[in-house]
Amino acid sequence: MCGIVGYIGKREAYPILIKGLHRLEYRGYDSAGIALIHEGKLKVYKTKGKVSELEQYAEQKDVSGTIGIAHTRWATHGEPTQHNAHPHYSQSEELAIIHNGIIENYSVLKEGLISEGFTFQSETDTEVLIQLIEFMKKSNGSDLSTAVQLALNQVVGAYAIAVLDRNNPDLIVAARKGSPLVIGIGEDEYFIGSDATPIIEYTDRVTYIGDEEIVTIQRDAPLKIRTIGNIEKTPRFQKLELTLSQLEKGGYPHFMLKEIFEQPHTLSDCMRGRVNVDANNITLAGFIDNREKFLNARRIIITACGTSWHAAQIGMYAIEEYARIPVEVEYSSEFRYRKPVIHKDDIVIAISQSGETADTLAAVELARKEGAFIFGICNVVGSSIPRNTHSGCYTHVGPEIGVASTKAFTAQVTVLTMLAVLIGKEKGTISREEYLNLIRELSLIPEKVGKILKKNELIAQYAKTFTYASNCIYLGRGYNFPVALEGALKLKEISYIHAEGYPAAEMKHGPIALISHEMPVIVIATQSDTYDKVTSNIQEIKARKGRIISVVTEGDQVVSALSDFSVEVPETLPCLTPLLSVIPLQLLAYHIAVVKGCDVDQPRNLAKSVTVE
Ligand code: G6P
Repeated sequence: MCGIVGYIGKREAYPILIKGLHRLEYRGYDSAGIALIHEGKLKVYKTKGKVSELEQYAEQKDVSGTIGIAHTRWATHGEPTQHNAHPHYSQSEELAIIHNGIIENYSVLKEGLISEGFTFQSETDTEVLIQLIEFMKKSNGSDLSTAVQLALNQVVGAYAIAVLDRNNPDLIVAARKGSPLVIGIGEDEYFIGSDATPIIEYTDRVTYIGDEEIVTIQRDAPLKIRTIGNIEKTPRFQKLELTLSQLEKGGYPHFMLKEIFEQPHTLSDCMRGRVNVDANNITLAGFIDNREKFLNARRIIITACGTSWHAAQIGMYAIEEYARIPVEVEYSSEFRYRKPVIHKDDIVIAISQSGETADTLAAVELARKEGAFIFGICNVVGSSIPRNTHSGCYTHVGPEIGVASTKAFTAQVTVLTMLAVLIGKEKGTISREEYLNLIRELSLIPEKVGKILKKNELIAQYAKTFTYASNCIYLGRGYNFPVALEGALKLKEISYIHAEGYPAAEMKHGPIALISHEMPVIVIATQSDTYDKVTSNIQEIKARKGRIISVVTEGDQVVSALSDFSVEVPETLPCLTPLLSVIPLQLLAYHIAVVKGCDVDQPRNLAKSVTVE
C-alpha cells in the first residue's frame, strides 16, 4: 500500500523517481507526488490520479535536482485528492515527507500540535508526522535525524518514511516500522524503495532496513543506521537476485496475462530441486530442518489473506487427507484479534505472496508470542514475513505485478501439496505407491497447465458473451470449492462484476433463488467422487434457465452437454485439480475485464501489497 522511492547522488533525480514510481504503482495509484531540492528550494509537485498524470503535471515545471523523494498513494486517511497526496510539507515548508503506513495516534498528536500553533493543509496522518518532526527539530534545536527519532518515539502505528530538509540538500532521513524499506547502494549514490523494483536497473547491492530503524543517507558518506531507541546498527548488504526482464511485460498487453502464461515455468521453478522424479522423492529444506516438529504437531493453523487464504483452504484439504493432522484456516485479520488458543506444539503456517501483508505479519507475531513454531510460504525473498518466521519455503515465481494474484496462487498450492505429501510419507499416513504416484503427477502439472493455456482464444470468445452480467456464481466441491472462491475473487477484483463462490451443494440453501437466464453460473465439474452430485446441481441450474460455463475433465460428455460453454482440463489426481481448474477461471476473469475496458493490472481501489490493517 503506497510506494515510496528516493534518490540522492550525481544524476538528475526526477527521471529515476518517475520510473521508480511506475514500478511501484502496483502498490497504490490514486495520487502521486514528488519533492526535489535544487538551488536552495524544496519543490513539491503532486496530483490526483496515476503517475502518468503527475508526469503531465510536471511537464512545465522545473524538475531539476540530484536529490528527491516520490510517492504513489493508496488512500487511508483522507480522500485521494491533490492536497492529500504526498509529499507533505511541514508548516515552514522547510521539510517534506513521504509515508507508507498508518499513524494510529495521529488525532492525539494533531491536537497537541494545533495547541502549539500548527495548521494543517490535508486530512492525512502523514502531515501530522512531518509537523511533529518539525516541532521536535525546532523546539530541541536538533538535526533532522534526531528530530525524526524523537517524533517516531511518540508514534503508534506503521510507517516507512523518507524526509527531505531544504537546508540540507545532501541528506535524506528514512525509517521504517511494519512497512517495507530497502536502500540500494550505487557508485556515489543511494536509492530508496518500498521494494527493490525501482532500484534493480542501477545497482544490485541493497540493504533492507529493519523495524524501528532510522537510516541517515548522506551524500558521499556511508549509510548510518540506528534504532529509534538509539542503538547503532551496522548495515548488512546483500545482492539482489531480481532481473529487469522479470519486471517488464515481455510483449503481453498486461502483466496479469503474462503472469497467467508464465505458470508452466513458475510451477517448474517452484518444484525444481524439490520434486525429484528420478530419485523418487520430495525434499523441502524447511521441512527437513524441522522434521520432528511437523511429525509431532498437534494441529496446523494456516493464516493468510485474499488469494493466499484460498490457497490455504486447498492446503487444509491436502494436509488432512495425506498427513492426517487437523488443520484450521484463519483470516489473518480475524486470527490476530480474536484471542485464539495456540499451543506450543501447534504449527502456524503463514502464506503471503508479498511477505508484507500487515494482518498476516501481525498474526505471525501473535503466534510467536504464544510459542508456536511458524512456517512461512512467501514469494518475495527477504520480505518481512520470511524474516519473522522460524522456517519456511519460498514459492520462487519471480515478481508478481498484476494486482490480481495468479502465478503466486498456483505456487502456494504446490508448496502446500508438497508439504502435505512429505509429512504424510514421513508419518507413514500414505503408502509408498501413493507417494510415488503423487510425485509423478506433480511433475506433470506444468505441461498440463501449458495445454490449458492453449485454450486462451476459446475462453476469450466465451468471455464476450458474459460481459452483460452484473452477478455470477462459482460452484465447486472438495478441492474445487476454494477454486470457486478464487475464480469469483478474480472476477470481482478486475471486472467489478459481483461474484460469489459456493460449495456446489450449498446452492440450494440460498443462491438458487438468484438463478435466472441473466445469471451466469460457473461450475467446476472435473472427475471426482462428487461428480454425479455436481451434475445434479447443474441440472437444477438448467431447470431455472441459468447459463452455465463448466470446467470439465478431458473427454467429459455429460456436463459439457448440459453447459452453454465448457473448457476441458487434463485429468490428474483430485488434490492437484485446483492447479488446473483455476487456469480457465483466471483467463475468463481476465478476458471479461478486457472486453469491459477495465484496468486489469491496476483495478480501482485495490493494491497489491496491503501493508495497512
Ligand atoms: C491484496 C492483493 C491480493 C492478495 C492479498 C494478500 O488484497 O490484491 O491479490 O491475495 O492482498 O496478499 P499476500 O501478499 O499476503 O498474499
